[in-house]
Amino acid sequence: MRATLAARPIGVFDSGVGGLSILKALRAELPGENFIYLADSAFAPYGERDEGYVIERARANARQFVVGHRIKALVVACNTATAAAIHLLRAENPQLPIVGVEPALSPAAAASRTGQIGVLATRGTLASAKFGALQASLQSRARFVLMACDGLAEAIENDDTGKTEALCEQFVRALGPMGSQEGQIDTLVLGCTHYPFASRHIEAAAGSTVTLLETGEPVSRQTRRLLDASDRLNAQTQGKVQLLATGSDAGLLAAARRWL
Ligand code: DGL
Repeated sequence: MRATLAARPIGVFDSGVGGLSILKALRAELPGENFIYLADSAFAPYGERDEGYVIERARANARQFVVGHRIKALVVACNTATAAAIHLLRAENPQLPIVGVEPALSPAAAASRTGQIGVLATRGTLASAKFGALQASLQSRARFVLMACDGLAEAIENDDTGKTEALCEQFVRALGPMGSQEGQIDTLVLGCTHYPFASRHIEAAAGSTVTLLETGEPVSRQTRRLLDASDRLNAQTQGKVQLLATGSDAGLLAAARRWL
């Protein structure tokens, strides 16, 4: 019975290709696991939609995994969907270990020397109650400058390099002065799983002294902890990855070839 449960796949979803940045870290941490990655590309992007829309899509994706693929764990590889829906997914699937992603504000507060931190995320994530509570809990430790990066996830999704570069430049500049001097932003939180795929453009705009923080590694370590605690770790040496998309899968396959 336990062996069968351990052999089942882990479901990972995002609105599109962004969650591949989390899947990459998951595969490095858990090479023996079988993963099914779902890009909800027919309904992307999530970041500028209302909360009800994102909740509905998160539920539909979880249902597809639970009913259609009998997953043993779920990773919500999307900050926007985690902020809107993870509490509902957990309440509706009490037996299923569920891991979400949230912007790395706490690691940023620990890492920053100037105490000035820029947060790049979707409008939906920044407007959520979950993000508000996280920011409020760290208020005394750092100053967070928030930037809703409208259109950036979509530009990355469409592999539009020119637009991605221009938006990174625009959003980073709008955050204010960057660097290691007093009053300057020295740490940037990539609060959307698409943004690590634009990190060279963000870095080019911010300068080399600024530290970029993403969430793949902590999420994969947390996934390992939950699998271990519920006796679901797969003992095989090499797992498989299956890629699915609700829309065209051409972009997903190309992105997976490039980034995984
Ligand atoms: N990748 C998602 C996130 O982490 C959202 C991108 C989008 O669909 O707007 O927030």
